[in-house]
Amino acid sequence: MQVDLLAGNCHRSAVMPQRRPTILLFDSGLGGLTVLSEVVASRPDADIVYAADDAAFPYGRLSEAALVARVLTVMERLVARFHPDLVVIACNTASTLVLPALRARFSIPFVGTVPAVKPAAARSRSGLVSVLATPGTVARDYTRGLIEHYAGGCEVTLVGATRLAGLAEAALKGETIADSDVLAEIAPCFVARDGRRTDVVALACTHYPLLLARYRRLAPWPVEWIDPAPAVARRVTQLLGPAGDWRDAGEACAVFTAGTRLSGPARIALAGFGLARIEIEAMPA
Ligand code: DGL
Repeated sequence: MQVDLLAGNCHRSAVMPQRRPTILLFDSGLGGLTVLSEVVASRPDADIVYAADDAAFPYGRLSEAALVARVLTVMERLVARFHPDLVVIACNTASTLVLPALRARFSIPFVGTVPAVKPAAARSRSGLVSVLATPGTVARDYTRGLIEHYAGGCEVTLVGATRLAGLAEAALKGETIADSDVLAEIAPCFVARDGRRTDVVALACTHYPLLLARYRRLAPWPVEWIDPAPAVARRVTQLLGPAGDWRDAGEACAVFTAGTRLSGPARIALAGFGLARIEIEAMPA
């Protein structure tokens, strides 16, 4: 046995890493919590920093130039403050645009979250697939490239939902949201043509799985909803290796850029994801 001075834990150095990894998960708001759950399940030993750029939420309405500049600026501050071993961009709107600039700027690994076009096309039997995303993600060359490369045999309907991320945040914070508003956002995903119907919908915004139970209830017919979070968690484990044999789970905190006090229900929701410690890194948009 020896004492690991960095982590303050006793361990057998032959079989354990020298210290716990720190994973930074980043999103514009609370959507990345859907990815956090999967990452924590596969690396429960890691220290987690969940960073929400709520000062600039929603990212879906920002121009590409503004989004690249914003994410680079915020990431500079977060990396300097938390020194992560790996960063998960738990946001499709950012990942489909900013990953090359982040990888050029920082030497740590970045794992992105991008529309699950390939698995969606592979699972569809009808050949009608929908991608539900923010207007930003729908407009990206990257998203169109995924469709060209991986969805050859399918007709893909891209649905840019303008309000759904906000509705998901509101619901998570305990506010009442109307079924009719949710249905209006998801309805364009359901296409019926030549006796065939959409049978797979890729949830290409990390906020959207927060309302999955509601989509299932409101959907005009049953479809398979694909959440990319398990694939993201697998990639994290590939890069960091399997969980170390620590006795306790890692520590977790949440960081917000808006600098405003979070409501009680929002704090309760975060605590439900293991995020009881809340910090502020005020960065007005
Ligand atoms: N959670 C983000 C995503 O995965 C988007 C929400 C926003 O528009 O900020 O795309």
